[in-house]
Amino acid sequence: MSDFLVIGSGIAGLSFAIKAAGFGTVTVITKGNLLESNTAWAQGGVSAVLPEGLRDPNDNCKKHVADTLDAGAGLCNEEAVRTIVNEGSETIDELVAWGTNFDKNQGDPDRYSLGKEGGHSERRVLHAKDTTGREIATSLVETARRHPQITLLENHYAIDLITTGKLGVVTDNRVLGAYVLEIKSGNVKVMESPRVIVATGGCGKSYLYTTNPDSATGDGLAMCWRAGASVSNMEFVQFHPTCFYNPAATGPEARSFLVSEAVRGEGAILVNGQGHQFVKDHDPRGSLAARDIVARAIDTEIKRTGAPCVFLDVSPLGGTFAKRFPFIHETLLSFGHDALKKPIPVVPAAHYQCGGVETDLFGKTSVRGLYAIGEVACTGLHGANRLASNSLLEGNVLARRALGEIMRLYPPAKEVPTAPEIPIWETGNAAPPDELVNIYHAWDELRRTMQDYVSIVRTDNRLRRAAYRLQNLRREVKEFYWGYTLTPDILELRNLVATASLIVDSALLRKESRGSHHTLDYPNREPRFNQNTVLRKF
Ligand code: FAD
Ligand code: SIN
Repeated sequence: MSDFLVIGSGIAGLSFAIKAAGFGTVTVITKGNLLESNTAWAQGGVSAVLPEGLRDPNDNCKKHVADTLDAGAGLCNEEAVRTIVNEGSETIDELVAWGTNFDKNQGDPDRYSLGKEGGHSERRVLHAKDTTGREIATSLVETARRHPQITLLENHYAIDLITTGKLGVVTDNRVLGAYVLEIKSGNVKVMESPRVIVATGGCGKSYLYTTNPDSATGDGLAMCWRAGASVSNMEFVQFHPTCFYNPAATGPEARSFLVSEAVRGEGAILVNGQGHQFVKDHDPRGSLAARDIVARAIDTEIKRTGAPCVFLDVSPLGGTFAKRFPFIHETLLSFGHDALKKPIPVVPAAHYQCGGVETDLFGKTSVRGLYAIGEVACTGLHGANRLASNSLLEGNVLARRALGEIMRLYPPAKEVPTAPEIPIWETGNAAPPDELVNIYHAWDELRRTMQDYVSIVRTDNRLRRAAYRLQNLRREVKEFYWGYTLTPDILELRNLVATASLIVDSALLRKESRGSHHTLDYPNREPRFNQNTVLRKF
């Protein structure tokens, strides 16, 4: 039993753990290694309005709030936006105290270099070249490792939350811990804690083409949903406009390498095969319009011209491209593409889950003692489309706020009511080798279905087709889940099918187009849909 059980080792989970360790014992479990997370892959940076004198003189929190609201297409919770934006500077101080080195201005070591991305009216993105996430993740892991109250368990896969509701105590749905698969031994352990913080990130892997690492399989969202937590705004899946399109490669990896929006922030422009800046036909901000607009413009352009991709021209940056974005430049070179010689072929790919487990501004879910923070959660900050670089900010701010609330409601010293006895896990038989093909096929079918029918532009007809296929997949997954010894492959598939179903069900309910949900059947934004799509199981 630990005072706090944290599931996930990205920015949200680790910053919570580091803060909570001052008040009790913390166990952090993560399904891969500690640095396997979306956080570690972040490129552009963290948006924050720094104190006067350190920020761009034209910038202030009001402008950051206005940009976030504008990107969110009328669906942000304004209080959430103000609260999180106002805590931006504190977030940067905290990350720096934990060892994150953000780039400074050349020749002025007292001032941070501030970048720009789509939808931001001013320069306010702190970064560590183009590997900001790796810099943050490394400093968090090192800080957590040093803390004697924190136990870090890698290769520990949370299967499901244990709640009183699931154990038959219907009047009091509170969390008791989680069932956790120790991947190396194959054993399932009960890990008890009255305070469980789900920080498992998003679900990019529900699509065939995604910028996300393999770990982004919607596990936390599906677990919270099964435990009875409400889920909101899942129809808003953000597609990043610029992922490298590599015609020489085949398979999903061909379209997964992100070329940061910060590249456009420094002057790169999107053009079609004829060199036309087509995004300007859709939005006067052109290549630096909000992400949903740019992704849709590219999708339209690709469909209109029949070309497989559009191009990102970095020539306006000259020699600074390679210096400011060395990771991107070198990775592209390793794929055989020299961006200094030829524009980068790019296509959009699934990038971020704007909705999630419904929480308040303290990460509190509808299940007692269960908190969700980071990308897995929906606080209302992002509305229908997230503003670039607001996610790392939110993860850290919500970790701080969740801890404050947990200490108020369930401080470790407070006596916890006796929990019902938790049944031990009974393991099934290993899947016969000839069944494995069914599991892989189901994975593939799921991701293709989402890519083809639930992507940037939707219709009711395609969504219904997706819903039908997902229904079949749910049935198959049930057989795998109850029939065989559990493996990460089966568990992830089960969670992806659950998450994809929540996306499709939510999308079918929104009969309008807004932010990252665009449907040909209802092409306009409708005032009567100025509300969240909330799904509840009970
Ligand atoms: P994550 O960082 O994804 O961490 C989730 C953790 O949970 C992982 O450790 C994972 O292994 C673990 N986990 C998942 N399921 C289980 C389970 N069942 N059991 C145990 N552990 C589990 N945002 C920005 O603000 N700025 C950027 O510049 C930026 N760039 C990005 C670039 C890329 C390529 C990508 C993919 C995303 C980017 N984002 C950016 C988005 C941002 O990185 C994420 O939204 C954010 O890092 C999410 O943090 P998190 O802590 O919520 O989740
Ligand atoms: C990027 O660097 O383009 C990603 C930024 C983000 O998703 O916030």
